[in-house]
Amino acid sequence: MYRIPLAKPDLTGNEEKYVMEAIRSSWISSLGPYVQRFEQEFAALCGTREAISVCNGTVALHLALLALDVRPGDEVLVPSLTYIATANAVRYVGAEPVFVDVDPKTWCIDPQRIEASITRRTKGVIPVHLYGHPADMDAVNHIAGVHGLWVVEDAAEAHLALYKGQPVGGLSDIATFSFYGNKAFTSGEGGAVTVNNPHLALRLRTLRGQGMDPQRRYYFPVTGYNFRLTNVACALLCAQLERRDHILSRRRHIFDAYNGLLSGVPGIGFQPVAPWAEPVQWLYSITVDEKEYGHSRDDLMRLLAEEGIETRPFFMSLHKLPPFREESSRREEHLPVTDLLSETGMNLPTFTELSDSAIESICSVIRRNAQRS
Ligand SMILES: Cc1ncc(COP(=O)(O)O)c(C=O)c1O
Repeated sequence: MYRIPLAKPDLTGNEEKYVMEAIRSSWISSLGPYVQRFEQEFAALCGTREAISVCNGTVALHLALLALDVRPGDEVLVPSLTYIATANAVRYVGAEPVFVDVDPKTWCIDPQRIEASITRRTKGVIPVHLYGHPADMDAVNHIAGVHGLWVVEDAAEAHLALYKGQPVGGLSDIATFSFYGNKAFTSGEGGAVTVNNPHLALRLRTLRGQGMDPQRRYYFPVTGYNFRLTNVACALLCAQLERRDHILSRRRHIFDAYNGLLSGVPGIGFQPVAPWAEPVQWLYSITVDEKEYGHSRDDLMRLLAEEGIETRPFFMSLHKLPPFREESSRREEHLPVTDLLSETGMNLPTFTELSDSAIESICSVIRRNAQRS
């Protein structure tokens, strides 16, 4: 147990009340008023025609790929700097993830590197809005349009982030979200898919519910899945969304406090923000330049852990992990920006109840150890 954990859900609003209402009403499965309410509210917030709740963000990606009819032998372009779920989902449908480097200006997929990875088998691209920062969607959509590819936004970490003033979720064919316990809005486990195209929406809903025809109960035109989310989880999400302004403003405050206290520390680098982006403040991120700072990223994580402070290293380069490295080296993938960030980046505690004094104590450990080996 850490004195200061990395993340903690904020359940101090109507969460308990709504969950109790769901329990008392006995609507605890995936039918119930909170499911519909959450789906309507989330779609409105994302500016999309529909939001479809699912049991987690991994399933959301899997469902999106099933709806787009991705098949064995297809290739899907994904950034190598992301959570493994992005690439795992591609494998679930028998396709192959092809890894693309990230842009040092956004830490998201580098649009300039996409074209070189397109082959005859490429069917689509999954830009990930990493650590709350949107990917450069106009550039990604343009390349995808030229080559006839679909685009799925992996917005698991970026609820309500804005790209050129528009919320993520409605910037491509389908977008996917996670509501895991460490996310800005959470139901413990949970996810959603957002979509504008009504045909895709129908296909997503049908596949989510065992393939049942929404107009004809117990008639199953296709093989589907049970990917539904419960009314209890949606009750939590409705309560979370009600307090979105408070949750997001607390998170902005925490980021501002870290920025102020860490600026000027030698060797500490910050998450870039593109001029067109309004990121959502998910996990505060820094990079550690060992030569300038005097300790490696891993040393700094250990020093913080000794003080009871939990941190997290950036995602490991996916193309170097056992499930993917063989195929990646066969394709001679060389992804230096991803490799550098994954070796030097770390996330600091970020949650609404994190106090100013806790932020000061975290930053004082980081400052105190600068250039002291
Ligand atoms: C970028 C990204 N994609 C997908 C997921 C998967 O979401 P979940 O953990 O809800 O399955 C996550 C993680 O939480 C994520 O960070």
